[in-house]
Amino acid sequence: MLTLSTRSSVLAASRAHALRCSVRSFTFSASRFQAVPTEKPVLNKEFKIYRWNPDEPDKQPTLQSYTIDLNQTGPMILDALIKIKNEVDSTLTFRRSCREGICGSCAMNINGQNTLACLCRIDRDSSQDVKIYPLPHMYIVKDLVPDLTLFYKQYKSIKPYLQNDNPPAQGEFLQSPEDRKKLDGLYECILCACCSTSCPSYWWNQDEYLGPATLMQAYRWMADSRDAYGAQRKEVLQNEMSMYRCHTIFNCARTCPKGLNPAAAIAMIKLELAAE
Ligand code: SF4
Ligand code: FES
Repeated sequence: MLTLSTRSSVLAASRAHALRCSVRSFTFSASRFQAVPTEKPVLNKEFKIYRWNPDEPDKQPTLQSYTIDLNQTGPMILDALIKIKNEVDSTLTFRRSCREGICGSCAMNINGQNTLACLCRIDRDSSQDVKIYPLPHMYIVKDLVPDLTLFYKQYKSIKPYLQNDNPPAQGEFLQSPEDRKKLDGLYECILCACCSTSCPSYWWNQDEYLGPATLMQAYRWMADSRDAYGAQRKEVLQNEMSMYRCHTIFNCARTCPKGLNPAAAIAMIKLELAAE
């Protein structure tokens, strides 16, 4: 006859044994189905990248060629650039941060199109090279890094923030769902500058013409029902150069990597100014 304490120790021992067996059999069956890693074939592709070094101002800019194995890198152009910088040439200079189309810093010209390197897939046809330049018609800081000082100064000039001298006595400014909807397609801009630097009017007149990115943000604040400075916002655009240099070429809408339409926003400003 087993006492109570002997019976519970027998039970515990048999449970431990069962657990050991099941672990052993799992290990055995898992090892039977383990995948054997296969080596992917080499898929070399050439990247021709714009290089210019401010420390060697007498040297002309050049296109430098790098060949990398696409099976040893991630799928996006930014992955290839990071691989080149980390493993081939640490002097290659470019901006990047989020790697997911949010920060706007990796904007550059890839095979003739302004876009974000982190959202641009590498074409796996290895017979075609990839040509990468900085955003066009900008002063260059180094390699793929454009000087965006003027771009940000223009953005600052349109006062991209809520202006209203009569805040509610309590709490936040309220907005109806219909009024909030008017900001869709405007507020998502990440200020990557792809649109402005694809615009011929901006290329030739960027000292005075504000360009599609800044103008779309000017309209974003005009369209905001909580803002009370619409008249002043329109007044600063009522001249020959700030906005009317837009000739509706539509390069901005074609190139925007976020699928926005700055040309439509500029058309809305023109309508509002014409209605005055
Ligand atoms: S509108 Fe598009 S292309 Fe232009 S700055 Fe904004 S996100 Fe970039
Ligand atoms: S790294 Fe941020 S948008 Fe490409």
